[in-house]
Amino acid sequence: MSQPILTLDFLDQATAPATEQLPADVRVTEATHTGRSRRLYIESYGCQMNFSDSEIVSSILFDEGFDTTTELAEADLVLLNTCSIREKAEITVRQRLKEINAHKRRQPGLLVGVLGCMAERLKSKFLEEEQIVDLVVGPDAYRDLPRLIKEVDNGQRSVNVLLSREETYADITPVRLNSNGVSAFISIMRGCDNMCSFCVVPFTRGRERSRDAHSIVREAQDLFVKGFKEVTLLGQNVDSYKWQSADGSEFVNFAQLLERVALVSPELRIRFSTSHPKDITDEVLHTMARYDNVCNYIHLPAQSGNSRVLELMNRTYDREWYLDRVAAIRRILGPDCGISTDMIAGFCSETEEEHQDTLSLMDHVQYDMSYMFFYSERPGTLAARKLADDVPLDVKKRRLAEIIERQQQHSLIRSQMGVGKVHRVLVENVSKRSTEHLSGRNDQNKVVIFPKKHYQKGDYVNVLVHECTSTTLLGNAVE
Ligand code: SAH
Ligand code: SF4
Ligand code: F3S
Repeated sequence: MSQPILTLDFLDQATAPATEQLPADVRVTEATHTGRSRRLYIESYGCQMNFSDSEIVSSILFDEGFDTTTELAEADLVLLNTCSIREKAEITVRQRLKEINAHKRRQPGLLVGVLGCMAERLKSKFLEEEQIVDLVVGPDAYRDLPRLIKEVDNGQRSVNVLLSREETYADITPVRLNSNGVSAFISIMRGCDNMCSFCVVPFTRGRERSRDAHSIVREAQDLFVKGFKEVTLLGQNVDSYKWQSADGSEFVNFAQLLERVALVSPELRIRFSTSHPKDITDEVLHTMARYDNVCNYIHLPAQSGNSRVLELMNRTYDREWYLDRVAAIRRILGPDCGISTDMIAGFCSETEEEHQDTLSLMDHVQYDMSYMFFYSERPGTLAARKLADDVPLDVKKRRLAEIIERQQQHSLIRSQMGVGKVHRVLVENVSKRSTEHLSGRNDQNKVVIFPKKHYQKGDYVNVLVHECTSTTLLGNAVE
């Protein structure tokens, strides 16, 4: 019998996201049922660091007698792990608090807390502005949650937003939430010491600090023993990872850490994010080239293709430097290495020609994928204090639309390069659109879909790709 082949028109019948009323990038934790006395419902907004932190928070609260639930109606405690990166992210959280408030009227004993970057940015102002909130906890204060919750149980409203120079939660084993059992995140550092002028992260996450290399390798080993096949090492700027043992005898940089994690097993895939163009070294690229299990994919945010704008952004590299790093990637890892970026349209005083430089940089690099935004001024940042947010909103949006259109063309070109080739795919799930198909990613982080046959989640499968869209490769398993 011939295998069912997934056609492009089939893919185009997109289905609605599972969490109907929430934006697509919000994650609700899955349930643990271990008979604990109270239930925690936690929603995470923003970046992977927040999703990873929610796993640490769940672990801390699990030890305090909380199971997690996916049903708001079952919860004793609701936590929103929030993001401040753009104004829209904060508006989304405010809106969600209104909905939770309506819910709390029906369930008066419900405790409501905000965690993460918006908690850190607003501090106790959150309690003044949002009557529903009982608890405000910043990203470095999660160990204090048990004490803070006790205060709230005693009728107080509690805040801890102290930032730390040491906290890395190295000894806490995260409760893996929303896990497919195949891939997991490992935080390798916290905070950020860069001062990109548009960015709120240094204010909400504090100083950069690197986690003990041994605890990272142990976590990767432990995940592999539990059946995980892929880990993503997380940090705002992984290339500046540096850890020194207490006695000073051991020093580990990012390339060396990557190697140590790669050596856990050739069957464990390693990814990492985010790389900063000023810090990514040839040593890192050579380490990637040496180990097959370190994926050939680099997220290398450019933000802009124009050197004057990059200087105003305080990115500390210019267009030439960025292009030199891309040339190094192509030289050391080859033309197939996946590269993605973040781009900001309409930063302060950006001219039409400077915007064209962003488009021409994109033409030059041909990114596999981009996260694209228009500039959103954030209170307290260098840009908010020193630069006028003077590009009109309609111009920002038009420039962003042009960037998105260009990216779609490039994504398609990059996908087409994969047609007719065999890709090693790590199966992550059954395809969202057909139970007869499996979905996974190739080395370059592209989604690959193919008929299931006898294959399962967690298998590495060689797939011959015969068709593609800009975001997805379609093929058949080959032995
Ligand atoms: N540490 C990463 C980025 C983390 S924030 C890095 O340095 O690349 C993720 C992305 O959000 C940024 O890369 C940037 O493109 C975007 N971003 C950050 N602040 C923004 C702002 N004020 N307006 C619009 N986009 C912003
Ligand atoms: Fe923000 Fe820049 Fe740090 Fe990234 S490197 S988190 S953009 S300050
Ligand atoms: Fe948002 Fe904080 Fe991440 S601002 S993007 S959740 S580090």
